[in-house]
Amino acid sequence: MLTCTAPVNIAVIKYWGKRDEVKILPINDSVSLTLSSRHMHAKTTVCASNFEADRIWLNGKEESVDNPRLANCLNAVRQRRLEEMGGQGTEAERALLACKVHICSENNFPTAAGLASSAAGYACLVYALCRLYGVKGEISELARQGSGSACRSVYGGYVLWRMGEREDGKDSVAVKLQDADHWPEMRVLICVANDARKKVPSSKGMKLGVETSPLLRYRADVIVPARTREMVAAIESRDFDKFAELTMRDSNQLHAVCLDTAPPCVYMNDTSHAVAELVHAINEAAGRRIACYTFDAGPNACIFLLEAHVPIVAGMLQKHFPPTAGTEKLFRGEKTDKLDELQIAADLPVRSGALKYVIHSKVGDGPEVLADEKDHLLDASGIPKKLIQ
Ligand code: DP6
Repeated sequence: MLTCTAPVNIAVIKYWGKRDEVKILPINDSVSLTLSSRHMHAKTTVCASNFEADRIWLNGKEESVDNPRLANCLNAVRQRRLEEMGGQGTEAERALLACKVHICSENNFPTAAGLASSAAGYACLVYALCRLYGVKGEISELARQGSGSACRSVYGGYVLWRMGEREDGKDSVAVKLQDADHWPEMRVLICVANDARKKVPSSKGMKLGVETSPLLRYRADVIVPARTREMVAAIESRDFDKFAELTMRDSNQLHAVCLDTAPPCVYMNDTSHAVAELVHAINEAAGRRIACYTFDAGPNACIFLLEAHVPIVAGMLQKHFPPTAGTEKLFRGEKTDKLDELQIAADLPVRSGALKYVIHSKVGDGPEVLADEKDHLLDASGIPKKLIQ
């Protein structure tokens, strides 16, 4: 039995569109920042034994192992281990691989918040299985087969997912660009919007986009290759102004592609646009870019900024998106007790309660094994310690 955690990652050059739906091969490169596991992570326990069947529990509830993406991951990891053993391996190693597994996974952040949890979840599952079986090689390629963005959560720091060219996907892997401590001042404020509307899942949205949006093709062929090179350079030289410009442009282009899709996929809502507008107003007042936003397939804004500017940006979020009376504090995660304000030109309204909360976090490391047996989510017989009926 083995238990691991894996982090969430946020893309600043977005992955949007597949050239192979089954192997999950993208039509463009993407770049992301891995967030600290302290405030947001997936935790997974895997156990191999003489069980009757493979079984999985997610956040306390049993789910079907027939889910094709889960089956893909399980098969891919087992296949890889077989290849690595090359028909050799000890009897014990072969017996372990022949065993069925029980998997139990949970997130330490509310999935209901609409925050991308599949990346951390699949990265954690694949990492845990690979450690259990003793897989030695590259594992982002295996995590990718659960969810594309999961391949980037296999590494900490700043990560590039190379789209690759091969049909078998062996070269569609994530690589670490920089360690987490490369840019120690980097911070993120994840603004969780109050919004119950059910969104088109990203896998469905991008499939529709590939089928119907000419802008998506243009973006993948012409825009992303050059923009990725610029982003890699901006991160390497810690050029925040360039990093911020590229991040906002790329997020806005993703959502333009979504509107260019037929029927259109609308992910940003009024609150999302209001946060974006506030960030532009702050940058204008500051005379340079001190913050930037990015949005995935939902209304939540991720604002990247440097530590020195947290008081101003957090103060402005508190001013324009105060929690409604009686509800909790706006900020969670890293300490956010120093709030400041900036005189902005735009007359932006106050939207009380539009944000549920804001998670303040940093860039962090990749998945890790938890050594303490107390951390196991399965008991000695391989059944979850916590079950939700
Ligand atoms: C907007 O990785 O969730 O977050 O590969 O179909 O599982 P599948 O899609 P997923 O898509 C993430 C899209 C995004 C941008 C990004 O993370 O790069």
